[in-house]
Amino acid sequence: MATTPTDLPTAAPAAPGTTIDQLIEAEEAAMLERMPVAREMFERAHEVMPGGVTSSWASTRPIPLWVERGHGGHVWDVDGNEYVDLHAGYGVNVVGHAHPAIVEAVQRRVTMGTHFAQPTPDSIAVASMLGERFGLPQWRFTNSGTEATMDAIHLMRAITGRDLIIKVEGSYHGHHDLVNVSLWRSSGDLGPVDDPVREPGSGIPKAIADLVRIVPFNDLAAVERVFAAHPGRIAGMILEPMMMNAGIIPPHPGYLAGLKEICHHHGALLTFDEVKTGLVVAWGGATELFGVRPDIVCLAKALGGGIPCGAVGGTSEVMSAISDGRYDQVGTFNGNPLTMASARAVLGEILTPESYVEAERLGRSMFDRSMAILGEFGVPAYGCVYAFKGSVVFHDRPATNYREFLQIDTAVSHLRYLVQHNGGVFMAPWAKTESWTLSTMHTDADVDLFVRNMRRSAELVASITDRHSELFEVGSVT
Ligand SMILES: Cc1ncc(COP(=O)(O)O)c(C=O)c1O
Repeated sequence: MATTPTDLPTAAPAAPGTTIDQLIEAEEAAMLERMPVAREMFERAHEVMPGGVTSSWASTRPIPLWVERGHGGHVWDVDGNEYVDLHAGYGVNVVGHAHPAIVEAVQRRVTMGTHFAQPTPDSIAVASMLGERFGLPQWRFTNSGTEATMDAIHLMRAITGRDLIIKVEGSYHGHHDLVNVSLWRSSGDLGPVDDPVREPGSGIPKAIADLVRIVPFNDLAAVERVFAAHPGRIAGMILEPMMMNAGIIPPHPGYLAGLKEICHHHGALLTFDEVKTGLVVAWGGATELFGVRPDIVCLAKALGGGIPCGAVGGTSEVMSAISDGRYDQVGTFNGNPLTMASARAVLGEILTPESYVEAERLGRSMFDRSMAILGEFGVPAYGCVYAFKGSVVFHDRPATNYREFLQIDTAVSHLRYLVQHNGGVFMAPWAKTESWTLSTMHTDADVDLFVRNMRRSAELVASITDRHSELFEVGSVT
């Protein structure tokens, strides 16, 4: 029978002696029970799509959610079950689903033609509004975050004439070769902290990985060491100003300003990958939040309001490399009219300064109430709220880099995902790595449901005496 979020029953604590794996298996069985149509679809999908999914990261235990539609802050699966959507398409749907302003903008544009490979008037409005938010005067467009970070690295190299780039250990910047190094590795595969392993991702040549230097997040001395070891050879550094694929890890005070100073001292450039944070953690992204303006900002995800998008912004000095032809920033679909119409509505009509205040209020309520419940049950936890993004992590101390993040219990993280799911809240399935994303269309009732499920998670986790899991390795990412 299809369920709505509020008609789901709350369950009793686990019986004494129940293991974490037994709890996970029971929750997964309950989930599958509610999804007969999805199970059948998933089976059929395997015949025509590898892994039965459209992108490998949609492939999750026990099966992916097969979504039929979304409206406001909620989604409905193919079995008719309704969920509060805090996954938000990996942080894209900050405007919610089928927001009237997006529907109107896209419908209007679609009737006027959707592709010319020529600029349309909306692109000027979008570039100007991004300039105001991020304090960078010029912008170009791409179709994804991957393309945006690829352009940023090409630009840093084209401008400096240098090959090496610095990247943060464990950070994800998309699936192009240049950044597919030191990703999703478990504790045992990282190498020494002062010289981390530079293993390329599958399909990426070792020669490419050798052009990257890896440093831990929040460690200025490591960056200094890399510059000292390779004088005149580093084009620049790319990083998320706050790590977003390891829960949420904010920068230490002074870290971002220190990076800018070190990079510039050595004639190198600094890129902030704000694909996840931009337009989400504050009106002007992490750039505004932490008060450090880099040479290049990469955006994607929330910018398009659900339409594929990406953007690269830069200082006049950086963007002159495009104007004068030192770097050809190209793409058939760049600045696609549909994307630009939607992005204009996102920036100009929906993500107003007030919307960040309201998101912070809802997020704070989720966070404070969750922490109070966890305290009641004696479950150690930490977390944070940054406007539309937030997290509560069942771990005793905040991770400050990727290695510390790996120590968070993966099995408990998955159990929490399942409990929220079975309680009518759809979180991102890679529960340890991902945080929640609110939208402008979420309500206090949605928050109440999340908090109710948090109570059940706390109750279950507090009742487990043996946390050893055969299903999830300690020190693994997922
Ligand atoms: C920080 C960051 N950069 C880049 C990307 C790549 O974006 P896309 O999936 O749109 O290519 C992602 C995607 O999750 C991301 O989180």
